[in-house]
Amino acid sequence: MPGLTAPSDYAEEPPRHPDLKINSKEPFNAEPHRSALVASYITPVDFFYKRNHGPIPKVEDLSRYTVSISGLVNKSIQLSMGDIWALPKYNVTATLQCAGNRRTAMSNVRKVRGVGWDISALGTATWGGAKLSDVLELVGIPKLSSVTSLGGKHVEFVSVDKCKEEKGGPYTASIPLKQATDPDADVLLAYEMNGEVLNRDHGYPLRVVVPGVIGARSVKWLDSINIKEEECQGFFMQKDYKMFPPTVDWDNINWSTRRPQMDFPVQSAICTLEDVDVIKEGKARIAGYALSGGGRGIERVDISSDGGKTWVEARRYQKDNVAYVSDGPQSDKWAWVLFEATLDIPANAEILAKAVDSAANVQPEKVEDIWNLRGILNTSWHRIKIQNSSSVGRSKM
Ligand code: MTE
Repeated sequence: MPGLTAPSDYAEEPPRHPDLKINSKEPFNAEPHRSALVASYITPVDFFYKRNHGPIPKVEDLSRYTVSISGLVNKSIQLSMGDIWALPKYNVTATLQCAGNRRTAMSNVRKVRGVGWDISALGTATWGGAKLSDVLELVGIPKLSSVTSLGGKHVEFVSVDKCKEEKGGPYTASIPLKQATDPDADVLLAYEMNGEVLNRDHGYPLRVVVPGVIGARSVKWLDSINIKEEECQGFFMQKDYKMFPPTVDWDNINWSTRRPQMDFPVQSAICTLEDVDVIKEGKARIAGYALSGGGRGIERVDISSDGGKTWVEARRYQKDNVAYVSDGPQSDKWAWVLFEATLDIPANAEILAKAVDSAANVQPEKVEDIWNLRGILNTSWHRIKIQNSSSVGRSKM
């Protein structure tokens, strides 16, 4: 029996928390309810969104599991879990965000193709594992390499799951060698999540975590690593997760004209209210998350309760008793920033949130301007409509 196998049906899926909101059952795609999402800085594993493209792989015998490294290297190797555990272990707190987060709101403007997600297709975990830069040294690739002696420029990750989009083949993705061999990029081969052994849904026994980049590149159930001259040609790199302008639709798309999305742009959302909600007029606590890609910090989160006429700056925080400073040495650069503000909510208010990152990037105002046929990267201002606030007695405070 090989170490890691992929079932072809959904008969052996792992147990999941009953409070998750299921967006698709087979493959299993689910997110927590928005109010649960910002209850803690570190997302409990049970409430971490689950994004799959096929049945969940299984390990029959961990002692037989290996990950191979081959391609444009002088000598291919096979690493066991023992070999991976023997490397220095790093804990990196990083947010994974699916590129389809907030897709449902984009599809309300114009139909898009893809699983519908509310605002919770993201979560923050402390990932434990070996640095990919250390692993690649085992095949003779030095740190901070852009190209191997044999011309390799990309690191491809191959899984074992059977994905419909790949006609039953496995999920694949790649990142540039430069990023993979940079110890400061913190790319991990992770075997732990929040101090526990990674569970099946999140990639047991070993997954890639690429901080600051859309979740699609963090390949779960890692089977092999290939060093290649070109980036990965798989479906999820070349025919998906690319950002097209609003003028491109399914009848005029040319996938090769755009590059695969890597970093995610600045994003924020309010989690204490539904998009259309009812609260009493008066003071209310508004809280949510903000994050940006590429390790950029969050410089500011602005909240408006009058549809954008006036704004207040929300308090930003990560860990208790540690002041959050955008790009400061004490702040987790790969993780989201939570925010809160107490605002006076007038009758029939429109509450807005927008974040600014440390490179002064701001979220776009309107979803219409960034509509794209796959419904990815909806980072438009988050808008909440408060209805009948004076006539209904339900408070969210
Ligand atoms: N890896 C494999 N093998 N198969 C997948 O379907 N989904 C990707 C990525 N890695 C996927 C995968 C996508 S699109 C996302 S957003 C993240 O895993 C989700 O990771 P999570 O389920 O641990 O939250």
